[in-house]
Amino acid sequence: MIIDKISRARGALTVPGDKSISHRAVMLGSLADGVTEITGFLPGADCLSTIDCFRAMGVDIDVNGDNVTVRGNGMRGLKKPAKTLYTGNSGTTTRLLCGILSAQPFDTEITGDASICKRPMGRVTKPLALMGADIENEYCPLIIHGTRLCGIEYDMPVASAQVKTAIILAGLYADGKTVIREKEKSRDHTELMLGAMGADITVDGLNITVGKTDRLSAVNVAVPGDISSAAFYMVLGSIMPNSEITIKNVGVNPTRTGIIDVLNDMGADIALHNARESAGESVADIKVRSSHLSGTVIGGNIIPRLIDELPVLAVAAVYAEGTTVIKDARELKVKETNRIRAVVDEFKKCGVDITETDDGMIINGGKPIHGADFKTYGDHRMAMSLTVLAQLADGVSTLDDADCARVSYPGFFDDFYKLGK
Ligand code: S3P
Repeated sequence: MIIDKISRARGALTVPGDKSISHRAVMLGSLADGVTEITGFLPGADCLSTIDCFRAMGVDIDVNGDNVTVRGNGMRGLKKPAKTLYTGNSGTTTRLLCGILSAQPFDTEITGDASICKRPMGRVTKPLALMGADIENEYCPLIIHGTRLCGIEYDMPVASAQVKTAIILAGLYADGKTVIREKEKSRDHTELMLGAMGADITVDGLNITVGKTDRLSAVNVAVPGDISSAAFYMVLGSIMPNSEITIKNVGVNPTRTGIIDVLNDMGADIALHNARESAGESVADIKVRSSHLSGTVIGGNIIPRLIDELPVLAVAAVYAEGTTVIKDARELKVKETNRIRAVVDEFKKCGVDITETDDGMIINGGKPIHGADFKTYGDHRMAMSLTVLAQLADGVSTLDDADCARVSYPGFFDDFYKLGK
């Protein structure tokens, strides 16, 4: 696909629902007693994989655009699936399922696409094994022999909401208490949703305690727009001249807003309006206007608050005057692709002054770049970040696989080019 260029970006839009919250609403709704009505659901490929897996375990789920109805089977109501559960490209589906399936009275096998089969699952299978789980393999396909679990105390070695959630979900079934201690706070959508559904869960700073929970009560979930999708417009609106974009109804849970802090620190003009609470999650409209940006250092405990936004923040760094250092971001290596390598290799193709480091990258920005033939590595966030990058380049750029954007943002290109009209 040729990446068309726009000369400015103006207008208002809503982005599709938050991916993390959409997954959790289906999973927890499936385990709840009662009916969960989800509005604003993300009908992206990843969340549809979650729906397929729970349907395969006997849960009645209706999908109508971004409205989803889940008729929960209760904590003990899942059925043994007839075949291997297929999680597609979705790390969240795969890892969170491990926590639930470990405690079921049946065995399951899960696997996903080529990317999923390369992503480390030991980070969930190891703590789950401490709880008594019986899981074969550290890479997909995983074979999970359901069994009785017991609570553990666990210090998280990496900041990962997927790992944390897998342990929390197993903890709902385990005898005794499960205590998880985070070093850095990762997204807390699971804790918020479980609290609203009446689970035995308490959060005290970086410590989470979960008790055995026999019953979750269904709650309706209004999913806000995904800040990770809004991120592309926050950067686009900042780096394009004469631009002003309003992204309405975006989830601004403080565990997710690192991108706003960093961009404003770089000199961006981003403001939140109409801030409100919706089902325990913070929501706001985000307004962004063109600005001059300066290089910065992105590292330390802000990283979990913007981990998925680092590829597009690297685009902001290309535009910014001066040097941007991204560090403490080793986790990027185990995302849908190695996002440090992918960003560095692709950005180099169009003349960006960028150096790979062990835990991130260094970008000297504010220099002219030229068009290039980009590869996405099948990674949705690479496809969308490179589309924003191409706007800064002289000449024509192409993308080898624009379609992969549908993993988290079906309709991205339509929304993007509407802003340029
Ligand atoms: C997610 C957690 C993050 C994030 C991913 C979604 C979640 O992954 O990168 O896109 O919904 O819990 P890690 O848990 O690996 O950091």
